[in-house]
Amino acid sequence: MEKDILILGIETSCDETAAAVVKNGRIILSNIISSQIPVHRKFGGVVPEVASRKHTENITGVVDLALKEAGVTLQAIDAIAVTMGPGLVGALLVGLQYAKGLAFALDKPLIAVNHIEGHISANYIQYPELVPPFVSLVVSGGHTYIVRVNDYRDYQVVAKTRDDAVGEAFDKVARALSLPYPGGPQIDQLARTGNEDAIHFARPKFHDDTLDFSFSGIKSGVLNYLNSARQNGEPVNDADVAASFQKAVITNLVDHVMIVAQAQGYDKIAVAGGVASNSYLRQKLTAAGRSRNIEILFPAAILCTDNAAMIAAAGYFQFINGEFAALSVNAIPSLGLANSTATESKS
Ligand code: KG4
Ligand code: ZN
Repeated sequence: MEKDILILGIETSCDETAAAVVKNGRIILSNIISSQIPVHRKFGGVVPEVASRKHTENITGVVDLALKEAGVTLQAIDAIAVTMGPGLVGALLVGLQYAKGLAFALDKPLIAVNHIEGHISANYIQYPELVPPFVSLVVSGGHTYIVRVNDYRDYQVVAKTRDDAVGEAFDKVARALSLPYPGGPQIDQLARTGNEDAIHFARPKFHDDTLDFSFSGIKSGVLNYLNSARQNGEPVNDADVAASFQKAVITNLVDHVMIVAQAQGYDKIAVAGGVASNSYLRQKLTAAGRSRNIEILFPAAILCTDNAAMIAAAGYFQFINGEFAALSVNAIPSLGLANSTATESKS
């Protein structure tokens, strides 16, 4: 029997300080997340300087707790996997420096992980039998991609947003409706009591026949609607606005990812990122998949938003390929997913 591989994952790219121990890339032994959401909420969004400071305060305790809960010592860990980007540079550096310190002191391999690859890898934990190829729909606060996952470390981006990420659009619309940060879960909740057909928010159309997205146009449609209603003294039904906005955005995502999966004959779509916990997306995509015989995979909510178990899972596949980072590795705030940004045509 082969030896178990234990990876300590560390994630500090935005506003969660997280550490986890994962066995063989698929089994969670611990998954500790210290969220800064209450700290940033009073500012209406993440304040980068505050995030860095909070990560510095929390990182040691979070890593210690992850080891304690997993029942393992630092010596028993095979490698340390840490997010190198994309994310806020100051926030990333806290985790990266901490991981480098551990790797150096313990003489263990360091693995630099792409945060987006981490989100996709959350599906390997949720579905231990899942193996590539499959299509992934990545929907987070900072990124929106449709990706072909050809192999564990082989990604091909086939569509992306040209402006706002999906989560960002949710957060901005929520703010316009005076809902607290982060707005995505608030819109999700409010939309349940609204009429999704009350207001038509047009989706922008590209003339170059791509599957790329533009969410800032839909978001502007909502803001214009709210402004003109307020100027004219007309009543606004916030739940209808939330439901109609959510329908416009989610339908767009579902339509495009289905085109990619069907055109290429994929039988699985694995969703990733914070917006993957959206209940309307789960419902609509699952229904669309069922009618086309495509299996739709969603990680549990705790694995959708930022966490370190997904970083350890992604790190495992780098570990088995012997892809280690030098101690000189730096944070890359704008790290992309893959070299290929070619877009596919709709037809
Ligand atoms: O993946 P994530 O934790 O962080 C990034 O890497 O960006 O995603 C956070 C985003 C936020 O924009 C948040 O509003 C959104 O995910 N989000 C949701 C829901 N839960 C979180 N958006 C819509 N519906 C939800 N239920
Ligand atoms: Zn994320």
